[in-house]
Amino acid sequence: MVERNVVKLSENVYWVGSRDWNRRLFDALIPLPRGTSYNAYLVIGEKENALIDTVNPGFEKELEEKIHAVIRPETIDYVIMNHAEPDHAGAIPHIMKLATKAKLIATNRGAKMAQTFYAVPKDRIKVVGDNETLSLGGKTLRFIEAPMLHWPETMFTYLQEDKILFPCDFFGAHLAGWLYDDEVEDLLVHAQRYWGEIMMPFRAMAQKALEKIQGLDIKMIAPSHGPIHRNPEHILDAYRRWANGETRQKATIAYVSMWNSTEKMVKQIAETLAAEDVEIALHNLAITDTGDLAKDLVDSKALVLGAPTVLGVAHPLAVYAAYLVKALRPPIKYVVLLSSYGWGGGAIKHVQEVLGQFKVEVVGAVDVNGPPTEENTRKIVEMGKVLAKKIKEEA
Ligand code: FEO
Repeated sequence: MVERNVVKLSENVYWVGSRDWNRRLFDALIPLPRGTSYNAYLVIGEKENALIDTVNPGFEKELEEKIHAVIRPETIDYVIMNHAEPDHAGAIPHIMKLATKAKLIATNRGAKMAQTFYAVPKDRIKVVGDNETLSLGGKTLRFIEAPMLHWPETMFTYLQEDKILFPCDFFGAHLAGWLYDDEVEDLLVHAQRYWGEIMMPFRAMAQKALEKIQGLDIKMIAPSHGPIHRNPEHILDAYRRWANGETRQKATIAYVSMWNSTEKMVKQIAETLAAEDVEIALHNLAITDTGDLAKDLVDSKALVLGAPTVLGVAHPLAVYAAYLVKALRPPIKYVVLLSSYGWGGGAIKHVQEVLGQFKVEVVGAVDVNGPPTEENTRKIVEMGKVLAKKIKEEA
């Protein structure tokens, strides 16, 4: 028997979430080096109560036991579904079965997803509109539509009396440990990584959502992953920068090399850029953590992609990196492509095809047969200087 840890955030507001210490992958794609948490919250009003979000499948019993530490789960009046993804909505069937009188609250799109994904009967769903409120008695919940952060149905819930914003995935971080932001020294590094992996493709929608909550008096932000922000100005400030696409005097270099030729080229340009006072984040794609790469793309002004030719096309890891850049849509402005081939090129053309419509200025490309010659190296140094100048002019 585990003694469940329920945390009181404010009067009659409790964290009843779960910590998934050993989870190492999200969406079978995103590495989670420090696990993650699925934060769920209980708000108890004078007349009614509400559970805000639930937990990942497999943690239903834990959630039930935590709720039980505060109220009998059967007495839940409302289950607020800010987001339909299973890591937050996966325990909805369990809770709705326990709490037979509970209504599920969701946006219009969320209501459809609740029926499709979780078989919630239509007559048990209450659809709420943007800015609609629900009084639990001394606790008023305001629902704020925030679509495409990062699914179409997403919304935030704001608890007016306590000034707590529950934004589900927005403002989150994949960290299993810690409860509050000020307990984590490098929280913004993890939050940046999370932004890069999940929110960066939706920068325009993030800007809209940030504008929408600008007028709210927010004392605490309680997201659905990672620590709760009791100093919300830090994460709000970071999100404003990232959503605006603010970059640093920085280049991300991502490369793969089979026989060190491409590596020699990328290391040369790294030397040149560093000498020109450009911050470098270098990722060997054969060993790097893609979450770290996503994090560095968030605030880089340029990308150098080292992509050797293998079997007439770009190395698969370089293709993956180019595809990732296109999918995550970072605010990078400049690209340099470096490549080496044994007996026939093709990688440069291939990665450009993969990048497709992604709008960047290709500052230059160097395609070398075998290891780089002195002349190749001179060209790379020149290209590095041109790139550094562009990066610094933009800064
Ligand atoms: Fe944490 Fe989009 O789910």
